[in-house]
Amino acid sequence: MIPLILSGGNGTRLWPLSRKLFPKQFHALTGDHTLFQQTLLRLDLPGVESPLVVCNCEHQFIVEEQLDNIGMRAQQVLLEPFGRNTAPAVALAALQLVEQGRDELLLVLPADHLIANTQAFHQALERARLAAERGALVLFGVPARQPETGYGYIKAGGSGSGPVPGALAVERFVEKPDLATAQSYVEDGSYFWNSGMFLFRCSRYLEELQRHSPDIYDTCRLALERSRREGENVHIDREVFECCPDDSIDYAVMEKTSAACVVPLSAGWTDVGSWTALWEVQDKDARGNVALGDVLLQESSNNYVHATNKLVTLIGLDDLVVVETRDAVMIAHKDKAQQIKDVVNRLAADG
Ligand code: GDD
Ligand code: MG
Repeated sequence: MIPLILSGGNGTRLWPLSRKLFPKQFHALTGDHTLFQQTLLRLDLPGVESPLVVCNCEHQFIVEEQLDNIGMRAQQVLLEPFGRNTAPAVALAALQLVEQGRDELLLVLPADHLIANTQAFHQALERARLAAERGALVLFGVPARQPETGYGYIKAGGSGSGPVPGALAVERFVEKPDLATAQSYVEDGSYFWNSGMFLFRCSRYLEELQRHSPDIYDTCRLALERSRREGENVHIDREVFECCPDDSIDYAVMEKTSAACVVPLSAGWTDVGSWTALWEVQDKDARGNVALGDVLLQESSNNYVHATNKLVTLIGLDDLVVVETRDAVMIAHKDKAQQIKDVVNRLAADG
């Protein structure tokens, strides 16, 4: 089994800490290791080989340094000139391995997730391995608890419906439904969130990609063929990759394929998609505050306060996210933290 670490996102919802040149996966947001490093460290299992990493070429040296710091080495680092989303990123890795005659199981892992219970994750991996060996495209599904619109939703069949015990058939996969639809799925009680982690044989993914999104398949093949190789680093050809459709694995393959199955995962998973999500999973003081850095709080409750340069103090304030960095201070209500994406877009538009 070969892990593929997807590390090309910008993490805009964790602005102002997360920046294009230093996105969230490379920050130590919880504990001593960065999210990228934690993703690798939880793979200490027999039968799991050294990883492939797919990231933006601007992050090559951050990736090298962060691997080095935990005494690891990637077997290959695929460097994208720009992101074309996850369907091409996974295709490049699968094509690269197949080309080397290594059509193995590929464990696709986003570099920016937290999993509290590593043992439960390992158990789910074992169930998934059995299903993937039979040709399934396995999704790891987290029981849907609240109507998040940023997730994919899976309607699963009953027990015994999947290819092996512990895996369930996917009756329907809906990527990022609107709020009312998400609400109805949560009320239904039988839906899972797509965790964004997958396991399949390289060739099985490529077959399904070729069937459902042939343009991505063809462009990635050519981009890889024309890529420049330098030790373990593969520089993906800019000119060809520019023509690649921008699409996620969820829309391009998972919503459409009939070869998917879901392995339930109850392991304290979170995708750290916002400051609020981070507040939820971190240790809090007696008044429900998470305070990192030089922070002084008075009569304030349930805040997430992150200071990196200056002393930050709050008096009589509740339910806020306050993030202070060298060149920006962001203050948001905890319920509105998803809107940071819009602010970042506005800043980018204003130059
Ligand atoms: N190399 C590379 N290139 N990586 C990428 C790219 C790219 O162009 N785009 C995104 N990634 C990485 C991100 O860094 C992240 O680790 C992962 O791929 C998933 O991308 P996101 O952009 O974070 O996806 P999402 O959160 O909107 O949705 C996905 O994850 C949800 C769970 O967190 C989907 O799979 C949903 O269905 C799922 O519920
Ligand atoms: Mg995400």
